[in-house]
Amino acid sequence: MFDAREALVREKFAAFKCIIPVVSGKGGVGKSMISTALSLALAKERKTGLLDLDFWGATAHILLNIDNQFPEEEHGILPEKVGGVKFMSVAYYTQGNPLPIRGMEYTDAFLELAAVTRWDDTECLVIDMPPGMADPFLDLLKYVKNGNFLVITTPSKLSINIVSKTLEILKEQNLKIYGLVENMRSPEDHSKRINNLAKSYDVPYLGYIPLYQNLDVQLEDLKDFLSTDFFLRVKKIAAELKA
Ligand SMILES: Nc1ncnc2c1ncn2[C@@H]1O[C@H](COP(=O)(O)OP(=O)(O)OP(=O)(O)O)[C@@H](O)[C@H]1O
Ligand SMILES: [Mg+2]
Repeated sequence: MFDAREALVREKFAAFKCIIPVVSGKGGVGKSMISTALSLALAKERKTGLLDLDFWGATAHILLNIDNQFPEEEHGILPEKVGGVKFMSVAYYTQGNPLPIRGMEYTDAFLELAAVTRWDDTECLVIDMPPGMADPFLDLLKYVKNGNFLVITTPSKLSINIVSKTLEILKEQNLKIYGLVENMRSPEDHSKRINNLAKSYDVPYLGYIPLYQNLDVQLEDLKDFLSTDFFLRVKKIAAELKA
């Protein structure tokens, strides 16, 4: 069935100079933390947006410490600016309620959100993705043709195994991949697995972020988050992305 939003959404995404979907087949590896930190780091140099496409587990708004007060509307929705980042999330619509949707319901909600959001002159868009390869991932591949993917894994055998499948699909589709980020690394983890993963898919290994014992308590407000070692690590990775 013809849906006028499809062309509009494609056009809106195509207008960005850079789109960085932060992905992983594995859940809980730090996509939301890294994408939020990445957008805050990039915003210091470029007009940057953050789009949370995890409709079932939206969390970026929690990290950015914003209440769910609906953003301004003017010929569309104007994303709220937080820490220099223009931010859009389904959380504004759900207001803390669960959103049990599937299949076409997801696509419909995605198209609506993407169609109504006015990013205006935003240059770079970071996208926080849910885990896996279901509808959000497939719709991203369908409607966003200019993504340069940041793939997140932990050093665990299970994560590496699942993330290899994510890389496989991205490679198969000839999509651009910035590289692999290893998150939650402990001193006893060795780098052989992740190096092998990067080598076998011929993608850059962008470095690691340690596993911090006290990260959660440092997330009380945005200022705290910006002063964490976690944020500084992501900032370094962000600097490499520009190079
Ligand atoms: N380097 C780290 N050290 C310690 N804790 C971390 C680190 N990175 C992330 N975490 C914690 O791990 C948990 C999962 O992180 P996050 O929600 O960003 O993962 P995710 O990949 O977005 O998860 P999901 O797949 O559910 O969307 C959070 O509680 C977060 O605070
Ligand atoms: Mg997440």
